[in-house]
Amino acid sequence: MSDRKWIHEDYDSAQYLCNFGKPVIELLEPKAGEKILDIGCGNGILTQELSDLGCDMVGIDSSEKNIEAAKTLGLDARVADAEHFHMDETFDAVISNAALHWMPDQYGVIRSVWRVLKPGGRFAAECGGEGCIRIIREGMKIALIKRGLDYKERNPWKYPELGAMAKILENQGFRVSYIARIDKPTPLPNGLAAWLDVFAKNHTKGLDDEDRERFFKEVEDYCRPMLYSEKAGWTADYVRLRFLAIKPLDAE
Ligand code: BEZ
Repeated sequence: MSDRKWIHEDYDSAQYLCNFGKPVIELLEPKAGEKILDIGCGNGILTQELSDLGCDMVGIDSSEKNIEAAKTLGLDARVADAEHFHMDETFDAVISNAALHWMPDQYGVIRSVWRVLKPGGRFAAECGGEGCIRIIREGMKIALIKRGLDYKERNPWKYPELGAMAKILENQGFRVSYIARIDKPTPLPNGLAAWLDVFAKNHTKGLDDEDRERFFKEVEDYCRPMLYSEKAGWTADYVRLRFLAIKPLDAE
């Protein structure tokens, strides 16, 4: 199986999570003709939605495979590191969904976004917020410790705290017009092991197939009393941080 096929299938199996993009689009209120940058665009699903609304879209992502997938949709998609990017163009708005928590240098992200926004430009984002998947992470931590592996070193996520993110935005010069931390218990129709198979690649790297399966089972066993019921099946303990920040018209 080629790498690209694999990444498409990954996204396909997590496609239900894409509905998460709707609130951040509503917050942005995009208008046809606006030039908008999607940071951490993944395979371009959200970028495509905005393009369908008539926006002039550019998507960036650090993964070449994701960008390849986004390009197959006909999008202007470029490989770039959202934590430290420079562009000659400027944008009316920047949007980001389910991506900022994969970017540990959140100062770098906000600085980069500021640079590419026109005065009066909007930055609307939603990402995992402080406390996101706390129970699942605890389950993974225990399963890793059991194998003598370091959770911290393998954890790729940083879930920003509301006050800290507001401060980073304001210190940069943004006016924060909306910010909220939202508990969002999220059904996992394919189950927790399938979710881990997509999202816990870094945590399970180096484990052979059999041990990976065992790892998933151990995490499920830990989480089951809190995140599973006969009636609802598996639910992930998602927490989102959603905000809209404006670059003032008189900004340099
Ligand atoms: C997300 O895409 O929102 C997400 C991914 C991994 C962990 C938690 C949330």
